[in-house]
Amino acid sequence: MTAASSPPLSLDTIRSHLSTNVIGAALHLHDKVDSTNRVLANLAHQGAPDGTVVVAESQTAGRGRLGRTWLSPRGLNLYVSILLARMLPSETVTWTPMLAAVAVFRTIRTLTTLDVRLKWPNDVLAIRGGVGRKLAGILVDAVGTGPASGRAVVVGIGINVNMPVETFPEELRATATSLSIETGSPIDRSRLLAMLLGELERLYDHACAHGLGDISAAYQAACDTIGKPVRVELTGSEQAEGTAEGLASDGALRLRTKNGKVLEIRAGDVVHLR
Ligand code: BTN
Repeated sequence: MTAASSPPLSLDTIRSHLSTNVIGAALHLHDKVDSTNRVLANLAHQGAPDGTVVVAESQTAGRGRLGRTWLSPRGLNLYVSILLARMLPSETVTWTPMLAAVAVFRTIRTLTTLDVRLKWPNDVLAIRGGVGRKLAGILVDAVGTGPASGRAVVVGIGINVNMPVETFPEELRATATSLSIETGSPIDRSRLLAMLLGELERLYDHACAHGLGDISAAYQAACDTIGKPVRVELTGSEQAEGTAEGLASDGALRLRTKNGKVLEIRAGDVVHLR
């Protein structure tokens, strides 16, 4: 699959597959932006409505978690940001990345037969030969939109869709992958996006109406980290090792260390040891 053989994102095709009420009602498609999260945060400050979506064919400064960059070549993948600006209960805000991870997980499971799992907090992995490789990542930024609209978040989602293996830098080839590498066939990104927005709206509506219980359960069922021995690279050069026991009510990872102490980890990089 090359950029030339991957059809461009099309507003008409996205809308023809879209079944949402709120998410994507305002939909901005760009050829090139620095970061869809940044463009959407600007729109939020100018009063963009709940559910506004920004999607781009390429990013020149795509951002990942923990200050990393997100590889964003033109025409191959999905780079999308969604504004969630309804009054969310405070614990829902900390759960937003996991809610988005469940939406990505369900979308890929609907479209493919891949063995997809989540890695805490919000990496989406394809498991092949017992090895998990990263297909997608999520970056949530809080945006204050003023007292009238209260708390709002920009949910940024990057999915490696039609990226051939040779497009990945050498150092990522063992740990990252794309849907087309895993399935052997190209995926229509416009349809994938419409399905993703549908899943996200269902989960968002559910969380706003009924709280997080079901979403937490769905996340934990899909999450490969829980129950595993892990090493967590914390900020700076610190590390912690132990067994991932489960999640605290705000989504923090509860790690039981060798000396029996339970740590609650809110930011860090997890390495599955088995
Ligand atoms: C991660 O590190 O796993 C998170 C990656 C998030 C990438 C997406 S691509 C769309 C949105 N815009 C950005 O600049 N980042 C997110």
